[in-house]
Amino acid sequence: MRVFDLTNSELLTNVVIIVGVPVVLFCVAAAVTLTFFHVNTRTSKIHLKTPTPQPIVGNLLQLSANRHRKHDWILDNFRTLKTETFAVLIPTPFLTYRPDLIMTANVKNVEHILKTNFVNYEKGFLFRENLSCFLGSGIFTVDGSSWKSQRKIASHIFTVKNVCILIAFGCDFGCLETPDNPLPFASAFDRVQGIVCDRFINPFWFITEFFTGERIELNKNLDIVNTFAKEMIVEARKRNLANDHDNNEDVSKNDLLDFFLESKNEDGTPLKDSQLRDVVLNFIIAGRDTTAQALSWGIWEICKNPVVEEKLLKEAKAVIRDKKFPNYEEVKELKYSQAVFYEILRLYPSVPANLKLAVNDDVLPDGTLIPAGSVVSMAPYSMGRLESIWGKDAEEFNPSRWFDISGNLIKESSSKFPAFHSGPRTCLGQHLATHEAITVLSTLVRDFHFELLPNQDITYGDSLTLPMKNPLLVKVCKRQ
Ligand code: HEM
Repeated sequence: MRVFDLTNSELLTNVVIIVGVPVVLFCVAAAVTLTFFHVNTRTSKIHLKTPTPQPIVGNLLQLSANRHRKHDWILDNFRTLKTETFAVLIPTPFLTYRPDLIMTANVKNVEHILKTNFVNYEKGFLFRENLSCFLGSGIFTVDGSSWKSQRKIASHIFTVKNVCILIAFGCDFGCLETPDNPLPFASAFDRVQGIVCDRFINPFWFITEFFTGERIELNKNLDIVNTFAKEMIVEARKRNLANDHDNNEDVSKNDLLDFFLESKNEDGTPLKDSQLRDVVLNFIIAGRDTTAQALSWGIWEICKNPVVEEKLLKEAKAVIRDKKFPNYEEVKELKYSQAVFYEILRLYPSVPANLKLAVNDDVLPDGTLIPAGSVVSMAPYSMGRLESIWGKDAEEFNPSRWFDISGNLIKESSSKFPAFHSGPRTCLGQHLATHEAITVLSTLVRDFHFELLPNQDITYGDSLTLPMKNPLLVKVCKRQ
C-alpha cells in the first residue's frame, strides 16, 4: 500500500514537472509577447511621440519612478519631445484592455475636449473604479443624468447673490485650534487622497495595495472620514428638525448640506444618507482643499517677490483702508489682488491634471487620433509653464501679465487658463473662490508681513489636488 502510494505521488510529481512547467513557461512567454505586442501596436496606432518606452512595461517604470514629481515629469516630456501632445504607454494587468494615456497641453485640444465635443469625453470607469471608495457617486466621479441632477441641485446655491454666505457644512473643522496636531479627519482625508491618486498611475493597484499595506491604511482612514461625514449629517438633520419645529429661519439653513437635505431626487424622494455622505466629501475636496492650497502657494510666492507684496499692500491700503474686510464692491476694485490669484493658479492649478475617457473615436484639432476608450489627460500644470502658451517668462511669477496696456484685467479663455475647468463642467465655485481668495490675500498682506524660514523643501504632495508636501514655515510680523 505504502509502495503504491509513493509510486503514485512520484508519478504525479513527474506529470506536474513534465506538463506543468512547460505550460507555465508557455503562459509567461505568451503573456510577455502579447503585452509587448499590445504596447507596441498601440504606439503605432496612435502615431504619437512617447517617452522612450521600455520592453514589456512601456513607460510604467519611468512614471512610477517619477510619481512624486509627476507633474514635472509630464512637463519635462512636453519640453524634451517638443510637442503639446504625447502618449504614455502603460501595460495592462492580465492583458485586459486598458486604454492609452494621451497627454495634451494644446489650447485648441483642451477647448475641443472640455467644450466643443464635451459629450465624447467622460469621467468614465477610471474615476468610478479608482475613486468610488472615497468619493462614492458624488459630482466629481459621475457622468450623465446623475451628474446633471447633482449639478442642478448644487448650482442653486451659487445663484445666491450674497456670495459671502458660509459655504460649509454648519460645522467648523477647527483645523487652527491645534496646529501641531492635525485633526484626525483632516489627516485621514489627505492620506486617502494620496493613496487613491496613485491608482491613476499604477494599473496594478488592486494587487499592490495588499502587499504595500496601503489597502489596510486606506480602509482605516476611510473609516475616520466616513464617521466624520456621518456625524455631520446627523447634526444637520437635527438642526433642520429644530429649525422646522421652531419655524426658525436660522442662518445655518443656508449652508450647503442643509440645502442638499431639502433637495429631492428626480423621482421626488429625499436624498439618502449615502448620497449626503458623497455630497459632504466631494464638496470638502472642492471647497476646502482647492482654495486653501492656492493660498499657501500664494504666500510662498509673495515671500519671494517683494515687489508683488508692495503692490498688494498699496492696493489693500487704498481700497480696504482700516475696515476689517472688503465688502462685495471693494473686492471688485482689488484688481491687482485678483491678478495675483490668477497668477497663483496659472503656476499652481489646484487641479493640476484632468483625465477624461473618450467614448467614441475622435480627432483632436492638432490632428491627434483618439481611439474610443483612450484616456486623455489635460495638463493645466504644464500649460501654465509652457513658453508656447505664456511666452518666454512663463515660469516667472508675474501678476502684471494679467493687465493690458490700458491697465484693464485681461480675461484669458478658459481653454488657455483651465484652472477652473471649462465648458459644461466648469467649476461651480469659481466666483466664490475668487472672492474668498482676494479677501484673504489682500487683508493678510495689509495686516502682516511674511518671511520665509530657511532650508525648506517646498514641493507638492501626492494628491488629486496640489497641496504643499510639507507645511510652509513663515515668520509672521504684524504691520504697524
Ligand atoms: C481655487 C479654487 C478652486 C479651483 C481652482 C477649482 C477648480 C475646479 C476644477 C478644475 C473643476 C473640474 C474638476 C473635474 O471635473 O475634474 C472644479 C469643479 C467643481 N468645483 Fe471647483 N475649484 C475651486 C473652488 C471651488 C469651491 C470653493 C467650490 C464650492 C464650494 C467648488 C465647487 C466645484 C464643483 C461643485 C465642481 C464640479 C462641477 C461639475 O463637475 O459639474 N470649487 N473646480
